[in-house]
Amino acid sequence: MPTPLNPVEPFDYIVFGATGDLTMRKLLPALYYRFCEGQMPEDARIIGVARSGLSDDEFRERAKTALTRFVKAPDLKEDVMHRFLGQVFYSSVNGGESESTWDNLTRLFDADAANRVRVFYLATSPGLYGRICHNLADHGLVTPISRVVLEKPIGHDLASARQINDEVGEIFPEKQIYRIDHYLGKETVQNLIALRFANPVFERLWSADAIDHVQITAAETVGVEGRGDYYDHSGALRDMIQNHLLQVMCLVAMEPPGSLEADSLRNEKLKVLRALKPIRPEDVKHVAVRGQYGRGRIGDSIVPGYLEELGEGRESETETFVAIKAEVHSWRWGKVPFYLRSGKRLPSKVSEIVVQFKETPWSIFSSKLEANRLTIRLQPEEGIQLSIMSKDPSPDGMVLRPANIDISFEKAFSTRYPDAYERLLMDTVRGDPVLFMRRDEVEAAWNWVEPILEAWKNQPDTLSHYTAGSWGPEGARQLIQADGHVWHEDMK
Ligand code: BG6
Repeated sequence: MPTPLNPVEPFDYIVFGATGDLTMRKLLPALYYRFCEGQMPEDARIIGVARSGLSDDEFRERAKTALTRFVKAPDLKEDVMHRFLGQVFYSSVNGGESESTWDNLTRLFDADAANRVRVFYLATSPGLYGRICHNLADHGLVTPISRVVLEKPIGHDLASARQINDEVGEIFPEKQIYRIDHYLGKETVQNLIALRFANPVFERLWSADAIDHVQITAAETVGVEGRGDYYDHSGALRDMIQNHLLQVMCLVAMEPPGSLEADSLRNEKLKVLRALKPIRPEDVKHVAVRGQYGRGRIGDSIVPGYLEELGEGRESETETFVAIKAEVHSWRWGKVPFYLRSGKRLPSKVSEIVVQFKETPWSIFSSKLEANRLTIRLQPEEGIQLSIMSKDPSPDGMVLRPANIDISFEKAFSTRYPDAYERLLMDTVRGDPVLFMRRDEVEAAWNWVEPILEAWKNQPDTLSHYTAGSWGPEGARQLIQADGHVWHEDMK
């Protein structure tokens, strides 16, 4: 049965950074899918804003190219795309400058438009967020039903995050600010909430009593591609760990929220971030490993190293891989380690949470027993696997082997898996902040990673190298082995 649509009011979606990679690759395709499913009212408008002097039609041409590239071919229908593009407009504005070009945008809003939901999506450099918000207000564009969406990373450290939050907060009250982390929009990440709090069978075991350790991995095969300028100032810790992986970890580790109301959930996530064992500068080398990829092979292709991708003659100490051991200091978690790991140019694209349970206290079998393991696969092939020990169906006595209880969400629910942005963009229109980060969460996350950033800045020799197509530097293996564990790919 098709899922009933959650209706939305007519809206104006104004995207700053409209000619950039995120808009083309993610935002326009996500809006196109919502349009196809009838969730974009006929008078809703998408207004791209960027500095380039383009006409509506020229921008539509670019949008069309992007849709053709990033929407799955069977979902792309010429007439539907034509109608969708009819609701797309463009305005040439220099968002960081206060005068001259803003009229190009303000003239698109008459008195009637003030009654419609207005979402400003800032897909620009975070350094511009404050200025754009002030300019929006100075040009009378902020209404009581306006929202602003901030892409991650919010700043590059705690101080800059605070400054951005302050500047944006001078214009928009917190309840109108949507800090997006697209990992929270992934279906399986939301399913984690369902798994934990709708299935007592798991929640009863969800603590240091039964769990030995947790691994959270976001591995990518891609390199930095065209995003070198952004990435080289960011690195994997800021790009993936400070936001995506810590948010996922919060959902794994948090206490049951009182309700699904936004602040209820966010209060519990915040408690996890604040309970993270602080990392002292002198401990960084024991709990965190970083690496940068060199030339290697992924599948059948030889891929260039990070420095080659950046360009001729470039030097860089930016990490493209991070592994960290974290601990949540609480009664529930005791000393259970959470290993977080993310890297580019690894052998496969996989994001998953592995919950490794403890061994049986005693065995009555001669076969070696493997402890139960719950693997929650965020992508690809979203699903859940529980490994259990099971009797081998042979007449040779009690021979046990591990077997899997395997749920593929795609098979269980024969429906298309929407991209995370589809859900999140519509949430901003509906005004539902539950899957967005509150200011205090973002700042608590920066506060935790900052000693690592500081230590790495002062100790360039902590950067190791790994070959593209491997699972990262040797130090990552040693990090987990020091506690007697191995990474998931080595468990088989
Ligand atoms: C983005 C990062 O937030 O997430 C990228 O900036 C990364 O560097 C991407 O490639 C990964 O997202 P996903 O959904 O493909 O795992």
